[in-house]
Amino acid sequence: MALLNNIKAVRDQFPALGQKVNGRDLVYFDNGATAQKPLSVISRLNEMNSGINGNIHRAVHDLSAKCTMLYEGARESVREFINAESTEEIVFTSGTTASVNLVANSFTAAFISKGDAVIICEADHHSNIVPWQMACQRAGAELRILPVDDSGCWKMGELDKILDGKVKIVSVAHISNVLGIINPVKELIERAHAAGAAVLIDGAQGIVHSQVDVQKLDCDFYAFSGHKLYGPTGTGILYGKRALMDKMGPWMGGGDMVETVTLQKTTYAPLPLKFEAGTPNFIGAAALGEAVGFVNSLDRQFAAEHEELLMSKLMNGLREIEGIKIYGDAAGKIPLASFNIEGVHHADLAMLLDKMGVAVRSGMMCCEPLMSRFGVTGMVRVSLAVYNTAEEIDVLLKSLSRAVGMLRQ
Ligand SMILES: Cc1ncc(COP(=O)(O)O)c(C=O)c1O
Repeated sequence: MALLNNIKAVRDQFPALGQKVNGRDLVYFDNGATAQKPLSVISRLNEMNSGINGNIHRAVHDLSAKCTMLYEGARESVREFINAESTEEIVFTSGTTASVNLVANSFTAAFISKGDAVIICEADHHSNIVPWQMACQRAGAELRILPVDDSGCWKMGELDKILDGKVKIVSVAHISNVLGIINPVKELIERAHAAGAAVLIDGAQGIVHSQVDVQKLDCDFYAFSGHKLYGPTGTGILYGKRALMDKMGPWMGGGDMVETVTLQKTTYAPLPLKFEAGTPNFIGAAALGEAVGFVNSLDRQFAAEHEELLMSKLMNGLREIEGIKIYGDAAGKIPLASFNIEGVHHADLAMLLDKMGVAVRSGMMCCEPLMSRFGVTGMVRVSLAVYNTAEEIDVLLKSLSRAVGMLRQ
């Protein structure tokens, strides 16, 4: 397939972008929450739901064999995409949240005892906070927090104060879903390893906006969701280094994750099936393989330049708005902006924008501690994808101006 190197070719892949919302052409700027799906993903889902459907790994019949092939083929596509050493290190989950929970349960059971410590960041998504609070509570471990500065950047100087021999794992986001800041994960991984701690990277946003090479990063775990990467909801990945995952027991028990079962005792299947109990979302996983194929079909240079152009147009336009406060004003950001406008409530603004056909996110964005850090109850977030256009930014800026005018009356 020829590389997608212009905006029309990219948009043609996304039927959802052609719809009207509230009588207006849809402008979809909530990509940080979930992305629209390309034709290849939709066709794979349709083809399997309407015919090629047989439970994987278990039966000898043709439909089962075809589905197993598509499922395991998708695992190989993901392995190649993030440059993992082996498909044994690629576990299918239902999303980032499930991947983090898997590690918070299985890693903690294997490696964390009373008196040990875990580090997370105050800017993290709830799905990287709550599982570790629960795990630390169970294990009697201490939860330590990496703080951020006023622009939302990690306070790397503070790391030395909290990173000592007690810390068994550091679990942090690659890219903040609120601020869009690309965090210095490589440096953090090196420092954590030097202190004897493993590292889990929450890559829910990172997988979409950077070229992830898990071997170069040298992270121990990398978690992401399919639906933000143009794939189906209910799909996700946990990458984990084989040496660590071999030592971790399963979190959930059931079919397909076993080697032998007696009524007294069970031995577990080897990686990665040990962590995939029960019938997985094999249709979704196969379609996630197609999403990876779509990303691979993008001309990387075109995509990077296009997104940079959109981001600078967006930021220039936003900065002109009177009374605006943009959060995470730092270098090295993905095309995303979160803000508040004086005298206007974030939820009211998002609601009025929706009436004008513009979909943005408002509220806490599952980052309540970060909202407290900035002393706000929420923000408005505009998060872009490769299929957005400069004209859509114009529509947003005009709609914002109208909405603010109406709300300030
Ligand atoms: C940085 C980050 N981490 C974790 C998540 C949770 O992802 P999911 O709800 O797909 O499990 C999100 C979703 O918004 C996110 O942006």
